[in-house]
Amino acid sequence: MTHCNSENNFPVEGLAWTAPNPLDCQLESERLIIRAYRLEDAQEFFETVCESRDNHLLPWMPWAKDNHRTLESTTKYICEQMLSLANPATFKEVGTGIFCKHTNRYLGGTGIHDVRTDTASCETGYWIRKDAIGNGYAREACARTITWALAPQAQAGLGLNRVRIYCSGANAPSVKTVERLNIQKEVHQRNDYCIDTLGPTDRLGWGVMHDQWDCTNHCAIESK
Ligand SMILES: CC(C)(COP(=O)(O)OP(=O)(O)OC[C@H]1O[C@@H](n2cnc3c(N)ncnc32)[C@H](O)[C@@H]1OP(=O)(O)O)[C@@H](O)C(=O)NCCC(=O)NCCS
Repeated sequence: MTHCNSENNFPVEGLAWTAPNPLDCQLESERLIIRAYRLEDAQEFFETVCESRDNHLLPWMPWAKDNHRTLESTTKYICEQMLSLANPATFKEVGTGIFCKHTNRYLGGTGIHDVRTDTASCETGYWIRKDAIGNGYAREACARTITWALAPQAQAGLGLNRVRIYCSGANAPSVKTVERLNIQKEVHQRNDYCIDTLGPTDRLGWGVMHDQWDCTNHCAIESK
C-alpha cells in the first residue's frame, strides 16, 4: 500500500518528487532578499568573489579556486542557473544570491544543491562576502532557504522532505552558523573531508525533515 504525505503530497514508499512548475526563487527574510540570479548581477557577483576569494572563500569553497575568474565565466554561471530554473523536469540544483533588503547590495550566495528525487531531499550551503560577515546573514539566508525547500508546493515551497548541510569541522564560523539553526546533527566522519592547505578534516553533517521545521517562522521546531 502506498501512503501519502498529506502536506507534501508524495508517496512515502518510492518517493518520486518533482519540482513545481513554474519554478522560481524570490524569498524575503527580515533583512534579506534571496533570489534567483539575473544577468545584471554578473558584474557585482564577479567582483565580490574576486574580493572574497583569498583567505575567505578559500579554502572552504573549492569552486572559488577556478570559477568566476572572469566576468564571462560568472555570466555563463548565471545563465546556467537560469536554465536550471527554466527546466523543472530536470531540476537538480540552483545557486541563488543573497541581497540586502534595504540597500540591494549583493552579500553572498546560497542555493539548493544535489536534489535527490528518490528521497525528496536536497543540500544547501552559504557564503557571505568578506566585508559583510559578522552579521549572522548566512544563518538568516539559510533558514529562509530551508523554508523554501521544505514548504509544501501549494505554499510556494519546493515540497521536499529533507534538507542536508555539510561542512568541515575546521570551519568554525560555518559550524556555528549551522548550530544556530538548531537542526539535528547526523554525521561526524573523522578525517573524511580534505581541505586544501589543511589536509583531511572531520566532515560534519546536519539534517532537517519537513515536520521538524516551522515554515512560518523559519526555524526548527523544538523537539519535546
Ligand atoms: C561561514 C560564513 C558564511 C558565516 O558568515 P556570517 O553569516 O557572517 O556569520 P557570522 O560572522 O555572523 O558568524 C556566525 C557565528 O559564528 C561565530 N564565529 C565567527 N567566527 C568564528 C570563529 N572563528 N570561531 C568560532 N566562532 C566564530 C560568530 O560569533 C557567530 O556566532 P553567534 O551567532 O553565536 O554570534 C562566512 O564566514 C563565510 O562566508 N565563510 C567562507 C565561506 C564558507 O566557509 N562557507 C561555508 C562552507 S560550509
